[in-house]
Amino acid sequence: MNVVFLGPPGSGKGTMASRMAKRCNLLHLSTGDMLRAEIKQGTELGNLAKSFIDKGALVPDSVIIDMMSNRFLEEDAKNGVLLDGFPRTTAQAEALESIANIDSCINLVVAAEVVVNRVASRRVCANCGEVYSIKTYAKSDCEKCAGELTIRPDDNEKTIRARFAVYEEQTAPLIEYYTDKGILESVDATMPIEEEAEYIYGILSKI
Ligand code: AP5
Ligand code: MG
Repeated sequence: MNVVFLGPPGSGKGTMASRMAKRCNLLHLSTGDMLRAEIKQGTELGNLAKSFIDKGALVPDSVIIDMMSNRFLEEDAKNGVLLDGFPRTTAQAEALESIANIDSCINLVVAAEVVVNRVASRRVCANCGEVYSIKTYAKSDCEKCAGELTIRPDDNEKTIRARFAVYEEQTAPLIEYYTDKGILESVDATMPIEEEAEYIYGILSKI
């Protein structure tokens, strides 16, 4: 089973994909996390990606499509993948069709003001990438690996608003794209986290 998690920045794509990966024993692939790992390693791809990420703009389609085509060739992707943050443009969605068969698109629905607030409260483990909110987790180290919890450089209000505008212009058209394919499932992403996870699990269990 291959599933796309679609939604604006801060809608909970990472939070939900990570929970479903554990429950369904599938691979969670976040293009944002992959690009941040490249930046951390100082690779050519990382340096290129950073210039776009810092502005809240999308990394060019050709770069992302190459990265994901190669990633899908790896053995651990053969069992099924939960895609978080990919595809993000119609060109990426069309390219994905020749890479993998998509069974469902989970569309997380949440308003801009809610995500600006959420992202301001987000902390991310510098070691394993686990996502927290200071509203529900008061410690400064990761529950899983004791890594330091940090603020993502693109989580300032100016960049988050730019990311939201980019989402509306370039990514929201994918709602219609996957509706037309008959596989879109919209989810109210303002539910309490565990309730929302249960709801999404219910959708995935029927596939
Ligand atoms: P990426 O890392 O994918 O960022 P994003 O899409 O902006 O999404 P976020 O990671 O900010 O949010 P999320 O939806 O994962 O929410 P989370 O679970 O953390 O991409 C970063 C950049 O990389 C892009 O701007 C672009 O430059 C580049 N990029 C990546 N992919 C690309 C692609 N395909 N093409 C081109 N460029 C690409 O949750 C947010 C917070 O809310 C957390 O604190 C969480 O605890 C909390 N939360 C979650 N759910 C709930 C809930 N139900 N109630 C209350 N709080 C909740
Ligand atoms: Mg994320």
